[in-house]
Amino acid sequence: MKFTLGLAACAAVVVATPTKTVEKRDASQANAACASAVTLAAGSNPFSGRTLHANSAYASEIAAAMQSVTDTSILAQASKVAQTGSFLWIDTIARVPLVAQMMTETPCTDIMGLVIYDLPGRDCAAKASNGELKTGELAKYKSDYIDPIAAAIKAAPNVAVALIIEPDSLPNLVTNANLTTCSSSKSDYESGVAYALKTLNFPNVAMYIDAGHGGWLGWDANLKPGAAEITKVYTAAGSPKQVFGFSTNVAGWNAFSLSPGEFSTASDAKYNKCQDEKTYIDTFSPLIKSGGMPAHAIMDTGRNAVQGLRAAWGDWCNVNGAGFGVRPTSSTGDSLVDAFVWVKPGGESDGTSDTTADRYDSFCGHDDAFKPAPQAGQWNEAYFEMLLKNAKPAFS
Ligand code: BGC
Repeated sequence: MKFTLGLAACAAVVVATPTKTVEKRDASQANAACASAVTLAAGSNPFSGRTLHANSAYASEIAAAMQSVTDTSILAQASKVAQTGSFLWIDTIARVPLVAQMMTETPCTDIMGLVIYDLPGRDCAAKASNGELKTGELAKYKSDYIDPIAAAIKAAPNVAVALIIEPDSLPNLVTNANLTTCSSSKSDYESGVAYALKTLNFPNVAMYIDAGHGGWLGWDANLKPGAAEITKVYTAAGSPKQVFGFSTNVAGWNAFSLSPGEFSTASDAKYNKCQDEKTYIDTFSPLIKSGGMPAHAIMDTGRNAVQGLRAAWGDWCNVNGAGFGVRPTSSTGDSLVDAFVWVKPGGESDGTSDTTADRYDSFCGHDDAFKPAPQAGQWNEAYFEMLLKNAKPAFS
């Protein structure tokens, strides 16, 4: 996972289940699956009235890490994080069976969040999250990754599911086409994303195609090409009706609403009016819409509590000093933003700081990156405790 600057030079959704319903419910009813098929209608907000599911995979990861912790306040806060909704990354074929498991544990009150993240030649502009499939292995991506995920979702029509489709992939095609790794990935990325959109297009699913963040596609020169790339792939997929819009700030650090923006005094700031994610979403959405695609957004607020930490907007790896941000909620104050969600599981690394490792990316060695850090996706206890300490709102 990484974010690259593009310009060449440049709270649980404990949404109002009406109180009286809650009062009537006993614990088992509250945890029950829906009695009938769920239909998420494009144009409606799938997070409204549903809680982003606090999945057991992240909870188990936290529980395992807490085995060696004795500080009672950290233990108490960690258990609150485990109860907070977050997306689960299906980042390898080996993790695909988790999808069926997640479907069985998601109650009718909830929406399960999954990140689809295993394209051939993954993370083409960086090294930290290079994946298991090589460029050219599109057939395997379809048959061994997307198809079994689709089968698991199809078998669970009574569960609401939100999917974030392939973080960073299409943005990388827009801004990093000069890299051989990205230009040679182009065909697999476009065909792979189109296949995912077409194949995962079930009535109980809401899909959001990843659109980077304001410091990436928000540059004046990138907005239109960015929207064109995303809507092109959406159209190539046959305009699947369960595509609701786009995701932003996945695994990122930007504030939703901040004026002046964090990088507004930088010398190139005049080329980017999207200094916070709200402005980015409000600016990008009409361009996506004019390309014929639904254009609502969800934003990752999992680690954006503290601003002013990055030396440069493009610094993406294990930013030091970060804290857990606003909890998942569909109360965003912006009709284009369906929800703030936690996508990057706080505590999982963005990339290793071991300079001798194969997937070492120099961004993970920058001064503003927390060190030491393990491989992307691996647990970093010290980082997790830092996120707790700096959380806003605090875990009291
Ligand atoms: C890693 C994945 C991991 C995800 C969530 C990405 O940067 O490449 O392996 O699942 O982050 O931590």
